[in-house]
Amino acid sequence: MNRALVLILGVLLASWFAAVGVSKPQSVHNLAVPDASGSKKAEEQYKNIQVLKGIPADQLVPGMQFISASLGVECQFCHVQDAFDKDDKKPKLIARKMMTMMFAINKDNFDGHREVTCFSCHRGSTNPLATPPVMAEDLKPLMEAAAAAEKSEHAEAKEAPSPDQLFDKYLQTAGGKAAIDKITSRVMKGTITFGGRNVPIDIYCKDLDKRISFTHTPDGDSVTAFDGHEGWLGIPARPPRDMHGQELDAAAMDANLHFPAHLKQMFKEAQVQGSEKIGDADAYLVVGKREGKPPLRLYFDKNSGLLVRLVRYADTPFGLLPTQIDYADYRQVEDVKIPFRWTLARTSGRFTIQIAEVKENVPVDDAKFVKPAAPPEQTPK
Ligand code: HEC
Ligand code: HEC
Repeated sequence: MNRALVLILGVLLASWFAAVGVSKPQSVHNLAVPDASGSKKAEEQYKNIQVLKGIPADQLVPGMQFISASLGVECQFCHVQDAFDKDDKKPKLIARKMMTMMFAINKDNFDGHREVTCFSCHRGSTNPLATPPVMAEDLKPLMEAAAAAEKSEHAEAKEAPSPDQLFDKYLQTAGGKAAIDKITSRVMKGTITFGGRNVPIDIYCKDLDKRISFTHTPDGDSVTAFDGHEGWLGIPARPPRDMHGQELDAAAMDANLHFPAHLKQMFKEAQVQGSEKIGDADAYLVVGKREGKPPLRLYFDKNSGLLVRLVRYADTPFGLLPTQIDYADYRQVEDVKIPFRWTLARTSGRFTIQIAEVKENVPVDDAKFVKPAAPPEQTPK
């Protein structure tokens, strides 16, 4: 299969595949071994863990994605191709020291709260700036405008509606609880755009907790699936990879056909934190806290009340790794309003899905959501 396409698909499916997508199937297999218990420690799953002992194995690769994004580098900046356990590259050794340093800074200065992260210093570069830039004359109006905006934002937050009012308005605009409760399945056909390519995609949702999408690439289908309990990702000619931890949480959210009706119950605590411009829309930001999970940021269009952006996070030892989904082109289907276009962006890449055709409450065969059996031991070609 085309190497570039594997890479792009990898980015699509969570950049995890990007890291290993071009390596030998054998090492893919090693990395893809699912942690059956779900609570394995990093050192039990990986070969050469010295600093990150004790973290959940699930968090290791998201943590690596966080580091890569913080420094603006690819995995190979620190790792030898096909041998992530090797210590041959100097940046990997420096990174170990940096991890220890970061943990110590937070422990000694911030009561162990993760305030300082790799990104705090690095800001997308391997070489953090040590010297502040001089003030350029034309920066001044910008700074003043920013200060003014901050003031008005604070003033406005006081008059802003409550989170429950925003959730209610969204639910009403989306069709209301009665109409949404009637949805039992949804089948969508459209186009996914990534890395300058357009490829057809089919999405099947059923029973509020099952969702599978098939991206039809010239080399075969790539799959993102959740069956209510387990989730998996597949790219052509590779064994499927199981989802873990917060990936499953995210997959369950995407599979929830009654999402607008379930929002209110989702949070232990929710707060309106000002407003932001999302595309052309002015939107209220609601930050929702959930028990034992990273927060969600939800942006509701001030005029329509519709959800225009959702930001969710994967927790990692180094900081929160964001996924941002922008919803647009809301259209009426039967009695509900759903987005026909959404753009999902991660630190590693982005894609847009444009739906052309939607069918609601049509029969969807349960067999669609059956996970393929684990393939036999891969032998390198
Ligand atoms: C800035 C350096 C750096 C970058 C970039 C980086 N890593 Fe790492 N990685 C490390 C360090 C350091 C360790 C060892 C941590 C320890 O000893 O506790 C490690 C360990 C690993 C391991 C465990 C290997 C084993 O068996 O012991 C895997 C897998 C891994 N990284 C994957 C990745 C992937 C995938 C990427 C790209 C998304 C990536 N890394 C990017 C520094 C890096
Ligand atoms: C408190 C600020 C700070 C934090 C936090 C921080 N770094 Fe650094 N890091 C630096 C500075 C400053 C340098 C450059 C040092 C130099 O020029 O010798 C550096 C250099 C590095 C380098 C070497 C880059 C190269 O060009 O070879 C790596 C790799 C690195 N950091 C990884 C990390 C990782 C991974 C984290 C998070 C676990 C992290 N850093 C957190 C300040 C920080």
